[in-house]
Amino acid sequence: MSVTVRVPAKVNVQLAVGGARPDGFHDLANVFLAVGLYDEVTVTPAEELRITCTGPDAAQVPLDRTNLAARAALELARRYDLDPAVHIHIAKDIPVAGGMAGGSADGAGALLACDALWGTGASRGELLDICAELGSDVPFSLVGGAALGVGRGEQLRALEVGGTFHWVFAMAERGLSTPAVFREFDRMNEGVRIPEPVASQELFDALRKGDSDALAAAVSNDLQPAALSLFPALADTLAAGRAAGALAALVSGSGPTTAFLAPGAESAKTVAEALLASGTCRSVRVTESPAPGATVL
Ligand code: C5P
Repeated sequence: MSVTVRVPAKVNVQLAVGGARPDGFHDLANVFLAVGLYDEVTVTPAEELRITCTGPDAAQVPLDRTNLAARAALELARRYDLDPAVHIHIAKDIPVAGGMAGGSADGAGALLACDALWGTGASRGELLDICAELGSDVPFSLVGGAALGVGRGEQLRALEVGGTFHWVFAMAERGLSTPAVFREFDRMNEGVRIPEPVASQELFDALRKGDSDALAAAVSNDLQPAALSLFPALADTLAAGRAAGALAALVSGSGPTTAFLAPGAESAKTVAEALLASGTCRSVRVTESPAPGATVL
């Protein structure tokens, strides 16, 4: 018997970052939008906990207990006094170290899959608590759709989305470490008084109306200057997407994946082809949002 869960990637349509807190984290106003790129996490009873991974970026995925999927299984087993003897297989389609919450998706996916396999009957609230322990972006991977995350991003409020948004994602030649991007943010803002992060009402309205032009006008990412500072070539990718007709071009989360909002499905294809032809990225993906959260298949 095995259980498979499908989990989406995310793009941050707003990432407002406050100053560093005493615990090293940053207060955020983080507007997450789930997009239709998915990892599939399958759990099967086994002799002992082990992880395997397949997919284009599989070689970069840690297969030890630092993997968020393993940590999710271990934490659920600990809470319910169970033996965490499962084989976790990750069919990975979300870019690794890309700023699209791929690792978080696997954590949420493994948690939901183990919960179903073991029949723990944990409440949604408890699953969300475990997700928040695992990482700031993990609760959103469980719920999907669109949500505002405050605190370190883990306290979620669901947002209404009134239409389909068309996206192109450009994968970079190498990854970026999220802590390193936050450190660069701190370095670039040394001595600057950083205001409290505030969510944009214009952005909420754009999502609710399904209005791509309004969304394009409202997107923002305070981590983008830090990501560009560590990875200057991303500016060329952003420029290539803009030149090809993207309504908005931004770094996804801490990057280095870049996200391009297109006015429709056809123009998304045009933007994707232009990005590939520009030679400024490793690969491109065309997809839509919103996407559902972690789902047992
Ligand atoms: O919570 P998560 O493990 O995903 O965070 C990874 C790293 O990103 C943290 O260790 C921290 O350096 C940085 N981070 C932050 N403020 C946040 C979220 C993450 O500084 N709100």
